[in-house]
Amino acid sequence: MPFSSRTRAASSTSRRCISIPYTAILLAASLAACDKAATTESRRPIGVEPRAADRLPSRDDADSLRAQAAARGIVALTRPARVRESLVRLGQALAFDPILSGNRNIACATCHLPAFATGDARNLSIGEGGAGFGPDRRLERGLVIARNAPPLFNLAAMTSLFWDGRVSLDATGVFHTPASAQLTPQMTRVFEFGAASAIGLFPVTTRPEMRGFALGAPSATPAPDGNELALFDDADFTGIWSALMARLGAIPEYRQMFEAAYPGTPFDAMTFAHASNAMAGFFVERLSFDNSPWDRFLAGDDAALTPEQFRGAQTFINSNAKCAACHNGPAFSDQKFRNVALAQFGPGKGNGPSGRDDFGRVNISGIATEKYAFRTTPLRNVELSAPYGHAGQFAELHDFVDHYSESDVKLANYDVRQIDPSLRSTLLPNTADVLATRSGALNGLVLTPQQIDDLTAYLRALTDPSARHLNGLMPGRVPSGLPVAGERPPRE
Ligand code: HEC
Ligand code: HEC
Repeated sequence: MPFSSRTRAASSTSRRCISIPYTAILLAASLAACDKAATTESRRPIGVEPRAADRLPSRDDADSLRAQAAARGIVALTRPARVRESLVRLGQALAFDPILSGNRNIACATCHLPAFATGDARNLSIGEGGAGFGPDRRLERGLVIARNAPPLFNLAAMTSLFWDGRVSLDATGVFHTPASAQLTPQMTRVFEFGAASAIGLFPVTTRPEMRGFALGAPSATPAPDGNELALFDDADFTGIWSALMARLGAIPEYRQMFEAAYPGTPFDAMTFAHASNAMAGFFVERLSFDNSPWDRFLAGDDAALTPEQFRGAQTFINSNAKCAACHNGPAFSDQKFRNVALAQFGPGKGNGPSGRDDFGRVNISGIATEKYAFRTTPLRNVELSAPYGHAGQFAELHDFVDHYSESDVKLANYDVRQIDPSLRSTLLPNTADVLATRSGALNGLVLTPQQIDDLTAYLRALTDPSARHLNGLMPGRVPSGLPVAGERPPRE
């Protein structure tokens, strides 16, 4: 039975949508806009003409907002070219197959679940050795991961991946990754989707996430048929990738699928780059979204935004809030790194006196001003992927927006009741340190309650309705015969 129960993001959406204060007609229109299957046609109740004065900005105001958006680089997202189906099918199988994990107990999709907008609806993910999915996942013999699992939307628009940008593709076509020279030119030649093609190479190498531990290690959960991946040195990426290809090559169906996806290349001449590129092809083909109300507005439909969303767009693009100074480009990220004063909890990245701090980008770049800086988060479909922040600091979108107003005071008074009870006692008292490198754009920033409501409404206009229903991404079975990630094992 597919796993598709409570989606926190969806229920909070409908609650907020209903509370939007409008006239009766507009309430009906906004409820329709919140409807799961909302499309341009269905947004307006049939036979009810909106009163133009309430509903529509003047043509001049609309054109002026479009011009300001364009000047900020907030432009339409171009859907990438269609990806060949044989590659998509291979990528889908790999993303849902626990065969890629050392102990065959976790897949990419365990933390990137279709039922939770390709995240896991947790503050921090639980790695290999855990049990269950999404909010119901239990620790058992697993470990908590230091950061929140982001959604996998619109990856083709991103050149810088992970919260700290440790996988990136620069303007000269060079890949920067934790594997350095072990990612060879022979491998990068296979990549078709930019930085996204490289990302699948890394979760499989990380012990707490997917690779697991060797026998005798603290978290050992050896599978009956052994965990040969755990035996490699942490720095031996090439060894781990070859061992994974040996595993996959032992399954005839995978050999066939790889050879169909890369016509003319025999399986034995392939590397794990072919697997990683296929997963990227699957994400890019099935998770690129360009049909939000905002896109329709950009394309010239003045009625695509509610009045509140329209005001929110003006505030976002052209006000003291300066949101668009960082959130720009087709995916609403400048792909740069900033400190927006978020609380720290969880196991951390080995930083600070306790080792439980996470200094973010400075760990990669070595640039001191990038302490506590994280990549500007892309914002399309953001309402669907709660909780928010690099450690899932905020449960509600409105609260993340509210945080930008007097963020120094907000950080000092951060309310741990919104995070998982097991994490609350791990909150670090590092407020002064975090504020020392906070982005200058946030100095003295105060937003009115109206601005915060409008901005939140605008962020909801970035949702493509088709992103609300992703359960169709889950394959019925995977070639290894192991349980498909996202499916409850029969005995649970
Ligand atoms: C244990 C949970 C877990 C598993 C398993 C997992 N991920 Fe992730 N994923 C995360 C977390 C947490 C992050 C953020 C890590 C960071 O930025 O430091 C992430 C980040 C990403 C990103 C970056 C998105 C962005 O916006 O930068 C991509 C893409 C991704 N994962 C794909 C994969 C693929 C492909 C696999 C399987 C090979 C996989 N993940 C397995 C938890 C997981
Ligand atoms: C100085 C650059 C900057 C400015 C200005 C800025 N942001 Fe951000 N935004 C970021 C960064 C960086 C993150 C990721 C922070 C983290 O997780 O550590 C982020 C995260 C977010 C998130 C969370 C997304 C998620 O999925 O976790 C939202 C929502 C958001 N910003 C909205 C806004 C709004 C609305 C404004 C204007 C009031 C704004 N931002 C202004 C840089 C900025």
